[in-house]
Amino acid sequence: MFLKDKAAIVTGGARGIGRETALLFAHAGARVVVADFDKEAGEKAARDINTTGGQAIFIQVDVTDRDNVLAMVEETKERLGKIDILVNNAGITADAMLLKMTEAQWDRVIGVNLKGVFNCTQLVAPTMIEQGAGVVLNASSVVGVYGNVGQTNYAATKSGVIGLTKSWAKELGRKGIRVNAVAPGFIISDMTAKVPDKVLEIMKEKTALNRLGEVQDVAQTYLFLASDYASYITGQVLGVDGGLVV
Ligand code: CAA
Ligand code: NAI
Repeated sequence: MFLKDKAAIVTGGARGIGRETALLFAHAGARVVVADFDKEAGEKAARDINTTGGQAIFIQVDVTDRDNVLAMVEETKERLGKIDILVNNAGITADAMLLKMTEAQWDRVIGVNLKGVFNCTQLVAPTMIEQGAGVVLNASSVVGVYGNVGQTNYAATKSGVIGLTKSWAKELGRKGIRVNAVAPGFIISDMTAKVPDKVLEIMKEKTALNRLGEVQDVAQTYLFLASDYASYITGQVLGVDGGLVV
């Protein structure tokens, strides 16, 4: 079992990549907190894990709200006793061309994708430091590395996440904490369901493996990076994009 007896928080764990990650972690032996804004989908995700032999609880959280995040961290410690792994997966898009992007679209995406990652990590880190061990995994994107049409706000956050990852790897490494990011390509989920078919077709065509990604492709990468098999890996950004950019 890759994650036997580990305690993990997966933000945005109600749907898509986060849900699959929570499921995979639980089946690898971890006790998992499905931490999400969406109560109904989050409770269902936790229930599905528990009925398939895993252990999970749902905690409702809005990652943009520091009091909310602090309450989630406290409840996790109370119910699981520790926090070994934090997956900062919660994220949103609000796409528009540069000239059409509103301030509200900019603020919303920065709030969830960047401030949310800061909030969760800053409030979980003291526990990991006290434990002398921990793993933080962040959701970047090919868009954060290479940019994308219509994604000024999102690209800024996903590049920002790379900066956070590298800074935290340097700050927290000597405390026994590893910090890495994944940079997925276009993965089939609710998020990409909003992308025009024409764009998805372009992305598929450009992908060396000639397919869009599945949520499992990313969840399996998180599983590896969370496990002791990755014990000498920190500060890295691992592309999970089927060769979209080679
Ligand atoms: N790559 C290449 N070309 C793109 C593109 C992309 N990602 N997105 C848009 N374009 C092109 C359009 O095809 C269009 O070209 P033509 O003028 O030749 O037809 C041009 O840019 C303008 O686009 P629209 O006419 O659609 O402009 P709009 O103002 O109506 O809409 C938009 C703009 C909201 C950005 C819309 O184009 C859109 O949704 N594009 C997709 C953006 C995208 O790729 N989002 C990814 C979301 S998933 C995600 O973010 C996960 C991840 O990490 C990968
Ligand atoms: P999704 O839209 O399917 O799921 C996102 C989850 O995050 C939802 O359950 C949602 O309720 C939750 N969430 C949103 N805002 C929240 C908030 N403020 N607080 C708590 N939870 C919140 O998205 P998907 O596709 O599973 O993506 C997950 C992560 O992976 C995101 O960070 C995304 O940017 C990133 N990513 C996704 C790619 C893709 O192609 N789908 C590619 C590269 C990165």
